[in-house]
Amino acid sequence: MENISNMSLLSCLVEQTASSIPVVNPANGQTLGFVATHDKLAIENKIQKAKTAQKSWAKTTAKQRADIMQRWYQLLMDNQEDLARIMTLEQGKPLAESRGEVAYGASFLQWFAEEGKRAYGETIPTPLADRRIMTIRQPVGVAAAITPWNFPIAMITRKAAPALAAGCSFVVKPAVQTPLSAYAVAELARQAGLPDDLLVVVTTEDAVMVGELFCQSPDIQKISFTGSTNVGRILMRQSAETVKRVSMELGGNAPFVVFDDADIDLAVKGAIASKFRNAGQTCVCANRFYVHDAVYDEFAEKFAKAVSELKIGDGLEDGVSIGPLIDDKAKEKTQRLLQDAVNEGATIAVGGKALEGQFFEPTILTNVSHTNSIVQEEIFGPIAPLIRFSDEASLIEMANDTIYGLASYFYSKDINRIFRVAEALDYGMVGVNEGVISTEVAPFGGVKQSGIGREGASQGLDEYLNTKYICLGGM
Ligand code: SIN
Repeated sequence: MENISNMSLLSCLVEQTASSIPVVNPANGQTLGFVATHDKLAIENKIQKAKTAQKSWAKTTAKQRADIMQRWYQLLMDNQEDLARIMTLEQGKPLAESRGEVAYGASFLQWFAEEGKRAYGETIPTPLADRRIMTIRQPVGVAAAITPWNFPIAMITRKAAPALAAGCSFVVKPAVQTPLSAYAVAELARQAGLPDDLLVVVTTEDAVMVGELFCQSPDIQKISFTGSTNVGRILMRQSAETVKRVSMELGGNAPFVVFDDADIDLAVKGAIASKFRNAGQTCVCANRFYVHDAVYDEFAEKFAKAVSELKIGDGLEDGVSIGPLIDDKAKEKTQRLLQDAVNEGATIAVGGKALEGQFFEPTILTNVSHTNSIVQEEIFGPIAPLIRFSDEASLIEMANDTIYGLASYFYSKDINRIFRVAEALDYGMVGVNEGVISTEVAPFGGVKQSGIGREGASQGLDEYLNTKYICLGGM
């Protein structure tokens, strides 16, 4: 692979063998290299090693763990350009977004290095004079994760950082489309001084096998998954047997609301950022736009103009803001949703064409109704359907009319409305006058069928700790 200066980041690439996995550039279909495939026995062995390594790691101090994690953070930032190139090559997102993701991913290492020092227990006032009551927080043990292709670094560090800071070991299966970023991040952990077998990357095309193995293994105490609600349900069912702790960051159907008192230019800026980040392939992308009747035409016109200026292409090219979709399946789904919407009466205001390869024009649809199929499904592609509304009460009903509850967004300048609507939206996250809300310091996660648990912030650490109650008697 050309132009990667820190070649040890690519030490994971192997010669092609019958059992190696090809990694393909979605911008041009070229094979970038191969990574090893691990079978069930190999993964079981790695879990055993992670189990042994965790025991010594748990005995280190939070400060010792933090020192390694701070070095790891710095190495990610020092290698930001190389990591960004690797990410764009295997995932397709524009280089500027990849650089942003490296910094975002690194921020979890820095944040949890410090937060690990604050895994406080409690001393609790006793109801019985001869007893003293206290709690301590302890690592859950071996944590496992299955991470998606849309954020090849950040979705690993958002889970690995709290796990390692808490004193767990961490076994991760990255998406088969984007294993190079995962291996590169693991290589930097090694360079930072993380002892062997604490951060284990396993790669396989057999997602069913690895899901079952992680969920059913009695040696894994916790599983964290980011991906579809359907797969999340399966993993939760499989985890029942071992009563495993689970964190699930699942699908979304984010409403993006523009009220009549909104700053329209700000709303357009937020809409572009929220909808077209990573070509629409994020769980928190705005999925459906509800625009008040009084500002619908103005918003639609300004939004369409901004979308028509977006440059589509290979993410390594200058000025590109829309890269390819991840694979043919994603392109076919985007095409199907668009065709269904048009059949149901939607009008294409801008875009609408599938281009050569895996590219798809950023598209705005007008004349969409709340009941249209495109409004009910998570699009995960660059299509923005615009729906008119005229009163706040029915808007709230439509916004909450979904099984999902991950992110939501609205634009308004009325402070009373801001509190009223933020409280009424049945979502784990609400962006008010802001289209990109992700940060390491805030709890990321959903309600309803968008998931369980939180990542980032102090809540992210709780997911990897058990609280133990200690009762001192005979005092
Ligand atoms: C996701 O799509 O699941 C993650 C998006 C983010 O962290 O902003």
